[in-house]
Amino acid sequence: MRLSNRLLVSRKATQARISVSSSHRSVMSARYQLIRIRTRCSVRRVVRIRTTPGVPGSGRIKERTMKIAMLGAGNVGSALAARLVTLGHHVTLVASDPASARLAAAAAASGAEIGTAVDAATVADHVVLAVPFAAIDDLLTDEVRDALAGKVVIDATNPLAADFMSLTVGHTTSGGERVAERLPRSHVVKAFNTIFAATLGTPTLGGAAQLLPVAGDDAGAKRAVIDLGIQLGFDAIDAGPLSNARYLEPAVELLIQLAYGQGLGANIGLHLARG
Ligand SMILES: NC(=O)c1ccc[n+]([C@@H]2O[C@H](COP(=O)([O-])OP(=O)(O)OC[C@H]3O[C@@H](n4cnc5c(N)ncnc54)[C@H](OP(=O)(O)O)[C@@H]3O)[C@@H](O)[C@H]2O)c1
Repeated sequence: MRLSNRLLVSRKATQARISVSSSHRSVMSARYQLIRIRTRCSVRRVVRIRTTPGVPGSGRIKERTMKIAMLGAGNVGSALAARLVTLGHHVTLVASDPASARLAAAAAASGAEIGTAVDAATVADHVVLAVPFAAIDDLLTDEVRDALAGKVVIDATNPLAADFMSLTVGHTTSGGERVAERLPRSHVVKAFNTIFAATLGTPTLGGAAQLLPVAGDDAGAKRAVIDLGIQLGFDAIDAGPLSNARYLEPAVELLIQLAYGQGLGANIGLHLARG
């Protein structure tokens, strides 16, 4: 039986309680709603329902709980893991030292599990790269690259210089494209690199959802990441092919210059004004 049918049967059989997540409803298009399904056995699933106006019960299950490997458990990895776990996703956090106190604290705070890069990537549907760009080669061993084959890999890294105040790659290529060269069997999507870690928990800033540009070459992978961004409350949009990471990464450097060069601080983000 297809997953969507299994969920629907399970929902009926267990008389699931359904509640609409109003905090996310505002950023969803009018035809979509996020619902949480809590069954008697306390298994929570977060799904996206497409509704036909005026037709009760016309919802079609679009998404399911995902298994996400978070490779990197620092500012970005721990904050993103916490949000994803809250939405009902299963997240495994990975750091360079699996026994580090920082990793244990991040897992305890977020409700994520701890794993190795190979094990987490093997079971995951989606994998997030949240390590320093300079650590990519070290992280992506042959074993890890094998485990990532066929997977959606969300590249949240930025190729920053050691002092963070400039980029080490640009113009004719990007960090995202360099990652894709290392992962030719994976579907690399550039996303979440433009959101400061300090604001991952507050997608709405200044009264509007922060812009989350998503760039990638595989349409299905990109759609899945856009949907995830919308679930998280961001204004997630298709930003074109992966080569457009060449423009997303400098946008981050602009934010860094504003935050730390001009003293605005890290509680800032991008909005897309639509006329
Ligand atoms: N901070 C932001 O606001 C922000 C926003 C957008 C994008 N980014 C980008 O996101 C990435 C992560 O930034 P961050 O601020 O979260 O960095 P961070 O706080 O320094 O955390 C880096 C994480 O990566 C892990 N790591 C390093 N090398 C590894 C390896 N070889 N294998 C597995 N794990 C490894 C570290 O583990 P250990 O602690 O055990 O070394 C740590 O958990 C960077 O590329 C950054 O440019 C950052």
